[in-house]
Amino acid sequence: MKIPQISSRLDKVPASPIRKLVPFASSAKKKGVKVYHLNIGDPDIKTPEVMIEVLKNWTRNPVGYGQSQGEPDFLTSLERYYAKIGFGFIETKDIQVTTGGSEAISMALFAVCEKGDEVIVFEPFYTNYNSYAAVNSVKLVPVGTDGSTGFHLPRKSEIEDKITGKTKAILICNPSNPTGTVYTKEEMDVLIDIAKRHGLFIISDEVYREFVYDGKKHTSILEYMEDMPEQVILLDSLSKRYSLCGARLGMLVSLNRGVMEGVLRIAQGRLSSGLIDQAMAAKLTEVKDSYFEKIHKEYQSRRDVLYKGLKSIPGVFLEKPEGAFYTIVRLPVKNSEHFCQWLLTDFRLNNETVMIAPAAGFYATPGLGGNEVRIAYVLNVRDLTKAIEILKRALVEYKG
Ligand SMILES: Cc1ncc(COP(=O)(O)O)c(C=O)c1O
Repeated sequence: MKIPQISSRLDKVPASPIRKLVPFASSAKKKGVKVYHLNIGDPDIKTPEVMIEVLKNWTRNPVGYGQSQGEPDFLTSLERYYAKIGFGFIETKDIQVTTGGSEAISMALFAVCEKGDEVIVFEPFYTNYNSYAAVNSVKLVPVGTDGSTGFHLPRKSEIEDKITGKTKAILICNPSNPTGTVYTKEEMDVLIDIAKRHGLFIISDEVYREFVYDGKKHTSILEYMEDMPEQVILLDSLSKRYSLCGARLGMLVSLNRGVMEGVLRIAQGRLSSGLIDQAMAAKLTEVKDSYFEKIHKEYQSRRDVLYKGLKSIPGVFLEKPEGAFYTIVRLPVKNSEHFCQWLLTDFRLNNETVMIAPAAGFYATPGLGGNEVRIAYVLNVRDLTKAIEILKRALVEYKG
């Protein structure tokens, strides 16, 4: 009997470092161990009550499909959101609602790349870009950045050196997951100049737009969109902004008509994003500014607690993150993946442990990130303090 082979492309899709240790965490929990989750950006902050009310009052039956581009009410709310943050030129026709920002990443790569084309990324980068690059047969070309400079961009020539005849786009994440870097206006100008000179798309993932600390200013790619309408694509998401990770809603925004018409055809193929999710999210215009002011303050104090706590651990190195809610941390271990697994399988402090993500999967260059982890500061200060204490004690005990 002839047995069918699965595709070799499937083998190229990596496991996510954020989730691959979950079975070890589940097994620890089954034994009654409390696990502090610093491995994933799934905030413990409450979703705005106006959105939860939609769930409580849901009457529409049956729960049918939505529109492929997105539900009209939701699209209008998004148009108003972009106008509120200073980009009134964005109209609903420029927005494609996606099933999470994750789908927007995949659509953008598919929209701009032929099989085998290259996209420049700054390393370390959001690990799931690796997944979607593999799914779309796109090659990510990493440009290294350095922890000692807060992972800011290297010299322009170092970026341009990576451009080949196959390069189609530069993909940035600003503020950055996993580094917390917020690119300056000057850095953005450099990227724009490169994109213009070499005729590249510039794709900016800004799902953490509001999470910028210490009074720093975020320079959105939207500031450049009207000037280069054919080249700019924004990737966005409601997951973090409104603590709506489970609602699975994101957006792809562009003034490039070919891109928008094409991604709509992909969207038609997958029918629609969640109807109930969009009904909840359409309430975003009713979320008070005080909601953001509160969470912004909260994340900044979490960032401060984490930075101070980790800095005090011998052999640990990190830069103060400027935005988002992540940081890359170098640990005094040889193999951070082994350490992360050991925390779940072997280490306990008062029957508690912590889950963090090994950082190698946030790199495309083999061998990098092997002694680093990515930490998400998505827990309240009390839990975060406990988690730091656990890490500190674990590093003393760990023999690896
Ligand atoms: C940088 C970045 N982009 C996109 C996403 C996708 O988020 P979602 O699919 O929940 O919108 C995430 C999630 O963590 C992220 O960190």
